[in-house]
Amino acid sequence: MKKIGSGIKSGSDRRSFLKTGMAAAGAATVGVGLLTSGKSAYAEEKGGRLDAGDAAILRFLAAAEILETDLWQQYNELGGIQDKEVPGGSGNPAYTKAIQALDADMDQYIHDNTEDELTHEQFINAYLASKGADTVNLDHFRVLESSDASGAQDIGRLTNLMQLSVDTTWYTRYRSRTKNPDFGDTFPHAIPTLAVHEHKAIPASNADLNDSNHLQAIAYTAGFHFASIEQGGTSLYASLAQRVTSVEVLRILLSIGGTEIMHFQTWQDKAGNVKPLTDVDPVTKVKVVFPDLNASPLGGEDFQTNLIMPEPTIFLSKDFPVCSIIRPTATKGAAMGALQSLTASGLFKGQSKAFFLHLTDLAEDADEASREF
Ligand SMILES: [Fe+2]
Ligand SMILES: [Fe+2]
Repeated sequence: MKKIGSGIKSGSDRRSFLKTGMAAAGAATVGVGLLTSGKSAYAEEKGGRLDAGDAAILRFLAAAEILETDLWQQYNELGGIQDKEVPGGSGNPAYTKAIQALDADMDQYIHDNTEDELTHEQFINAYLASKGADTVNLDHFRVLESSDASGAQDIGRLTNLMQLSVDTTWYTRYRSRTKNPDFGDTFPHAIPTLAVHEHKAIPASNADLNDSNHLQAIAYTAGFHFASIEQGGTSLYASLAQRVTSVEVLRILLSIGGTEIMHFQTWQDKAGNVKPLTDVDPVTKVKVVFPDLNASPLGGEDFQTNLIMPEPTIFLSKDFPVCSIIRPTATKGAAMGALQSLTASGLFKGQSKAFFLHLTDLAEDADEASREF
């Protein structure tokens, strides 16, 4: 977090100051002293209980969790279990069955992942509020359309699951024994056709239910999107934890981040159950090919589909022995990197300029946070 004395020049710095500095300035105990006493005053939120950088990191995570909840809610309404824990929607039997091609318990897992995200969002905001810090509310950005398929609620959404380009490099990244994205390494997509053009991960309408091959392709797309989202959360928490100051905030990041890892591992396991399938969307004409993942160009011992735990790889320095780790975990720019990859996936297609400005602002503030000793 930039200090007052370093100057507040750019728009983002000014916004950061308005959100955190001015909030602190409003507290009677800080007052004008904020402007002259430098780091110690500026680095604290109202009540002097939460470091400004910690608050910024928690706010970005709250926003990420709200977005996760929104997308998982859409999956749950159509393909999960709708109950008092995760209300909304009435289920779409055909889509639910298609997703269950990956595992008979997929509806339960979708339900549980959805509930987890909801509790992450609510907990982080409640914690921020308990410290007198600003919380995050994205309700005014709920402008995207719901699916017209039977089972979905007709409400405004934050995220778009019907025009996705899904990054499936997590599949090869976690199977590599020699590469690590933190060393600048890149990885091939497991499903190259999913990475380009716009794909549906939920049926847009009941017309998408008519052809079982097409519906299966949509369900498989969801299966790979689940893992793509949750590996992002897995890295995000580990990356941002390195820059928090309070041990309690560190505990929050480690404890929530651990569940993102559990989600990712589950979805990584299920995605490996995909069967070869080719589909061309009858309306958009977009083609997707789910290849045999146990055959060339993947295949072989390192790529077999039952490898659901990370292969050990290089970490920190190539001089060390390889190590089984989460990757990436580099902390620099981690929040913006997460936002950019979500944006590149098409998850926010149709969102307003104000939405992107707001999310960018939250990410910039989180990435300016540094550990205070
Ligand atoms: Fe989460
Ligand atoms: Fe998650």
